[in-house]
Order: sequence, then structure tokens, then C-alpha cells
Amino acid sequence: MTFTASRSGATAAPDTAQEAPAVEIRSGVKRFRKEDGSSLLAFEGVNLSVRRQEFVCVLGPSGCGKTTMLRCLSGLEELSEGTVLIHGEEPRGVHRDLAIVFQRPVLLPWLTVADNVQLPLRVGGYARASSPAASRDRVAALLDLVGLKGFESSYPYELSGGMQQRASIARALSRNPDILMMDEPFGALDALTRQRLNFELVRIWRSSGSTIVLITHNIHEALILADRVVVMSERPGRIIKELAIDLPRPRTAKSLNAQPERYLALVKDIEECLGVAE
Ligand SMILES: Nc1ncnc2c1ncn2[C@@H]1O[C@H](COP(=O)(O)OP(=O)(O)OP(=O)(O)O)[C@@H](O)[C@H]1O
Ligand SMILES: [Mg+2]
Repeated sequence: MTFTASRSGATAAPDTAQEAPAVEIRSGVKRFRKEDGSSLLAFEGVNLSVRRQEFVCVLGPSGCGKTTMLRCLSGLEELSEGTVLIHGEEPRGVHRDLAIVFQRPVLLPWLTVADNVQLPLRVGGYARASSPAASRDRVAALLDLVGLKGFESSYPYELSGGMQQRASIARALSRNPDILMMDEPFGALDALTRQRLNFELVRIWRSSGSTIVLITHNIHEALILADRVVVMSERPGRIIKELAIDLPRPRTAKSLNAQPERYLALVKDIEECLGVAE
């Protein structure tokens, strides 16, 4: 079964909100207050504007503020200074058209895998608006997509960490979110599953017209996925480079091999920014 993503309203006439970037952070600063009264500056001077239907990957050293920035962009966390806009408006909590895949799987332990994946459909009224069979089919297609067919009735504790993360990805996709925020979603997966889900994510993104911001530590992954790569410095994180990834799509091992110079030049650019070039 193939999971297909489409959204009603995706072709609606443009209005002001439609013309605004999907998400934006302007002059963003985030400081945490520590137990001892001192403060920790996570990031500063962050400006990022993500166009509708754009796929942006964020790379940066551990602890530089990527997760914190994603939480602020999602409306989960408030900035200390600056502005976040989602569809041109300051968020009040998490926007209903936005879904988040966290760095660690977050599933409700008392629900089965299928019920976890179905939860956003119930909360969002999708299940009420469609037949139980359509809703069930959708969950089945999503679980098939992430390779969890046969685990519908399992509970989260019965799954490995990577399987739990795949269930979390299925859940985030269930409502065809307009904006998808993904924090190292494939970090815990084996290389083959990771690659397969990379390609599936691109397919879903292209067919659904959603906007994706994805954090990764993997340069190759960023180059397979992104329209634009944003590189952050050591903490306090700042955006030190933005690279348009003009590699033709669909990107496969074969197509990347056809233009190795361009691919390798991008890898080198990013490695230099991250300070890992030889
Ligand atoms: N809730 C919090 N309270 C206090 N400090 C925090 C909090 N969340 C994050 N930090 C601090 O903010 C900094 C940035 O953390 P963040 O989780 O955003 O980094 P990251 O770039 O996502 O790192 P990684 O790649 O390891 O996931 C770190 O120094 C961290 O200790
Ligand atoms: Mg993180």
C-alpha cells in the first residue's frame, strides 16, 4: 500500500497569509536561566525565513542550539528576544497545521502503535470527518511506509528505539501537516532504513507541498533532501552559512554520481563551515 499525501485547500486562492513565508525567525535570541541564577545563551542573531514548500536542512555542532531554534520556530518555546512568525503571524502555542518529530520518540505508552499514529487524526477531527475505514486505511498506509506493518497492536515498550522513532514519524505525517519540523528524525535508524525514509520523505514532500525544516548531523542526508542548507556555529549558535542546493531532483546515488564535482564541492563547503574539513 502506498501512502499518498494531499491536502484540501492546498490550491486555495492566495491571500496575505498565503504569501507570507511558512516560518520565520527575526533577530532571534534564546537565553536559558540556570538553577544557579546565571544564564546560558543558546543562540543569538538568528534570522531565517523558510518559503512555503521549501525544504530546509539545519546542520551544526552538538549543543549549538538547533533543537532550541526548532522549538522556538514551532511555537513550543518563546524567544528571549526577536520574533517568530508562522504564516505571517506570531504563534500562540503550536500551530494546528504544524507537526513536530522530536529528537527522541514521544509516544503515549498506554496506546498501541496504531492508536498513537491515529491520535492526531482524532484530535484534529479528521477521524470524525472521514469514515472509520478511511482513517484505518490511512494509519495502515503510514505504518507500511515506515516499515511497521504487523506492529499495529504493539505497545511502544515492545518496539526498539528506531521503531518507536519510525512510529513517531508516521504520527507526524498522519494529518498531512502544512509545516513539518523534524529534529534529527533518522538519527537512530540503520543506514538502509534511513536512506529509504530519506527518499520517501522527499516523495511525500513533493506530493503534499508541505514545508519542511529538518535538523541533521549528516551532510549527505542534507544534500539528498534540502533545497537549502543552513549551517550554525558553535554555541551561542548563529547562522554562519546558507547554501542553495541546486542539485537536480530526483536525487539518487546515480544522479549524484553524474555530477560528482558539484556534490563534492557542496560537501567541502559545508565541512569547512563545520570545521571538519581536512
Ligand atoms: N530547557 C533548557 N534549559 C536550560 N538549558 C537548555 C535547555 N534546553 C537546551 N539548553 C541548552 O541550550 C544549548 C543548546 O541546546 P540544544 O538542545 O538546542 O542543542 P542542539 O544543537 O540541538 O544539540 P544536539 O545536536 O546535541 O542535539 C545547550 O547548551 C543546552 O544545554
Ligand atoms: Mg538537538
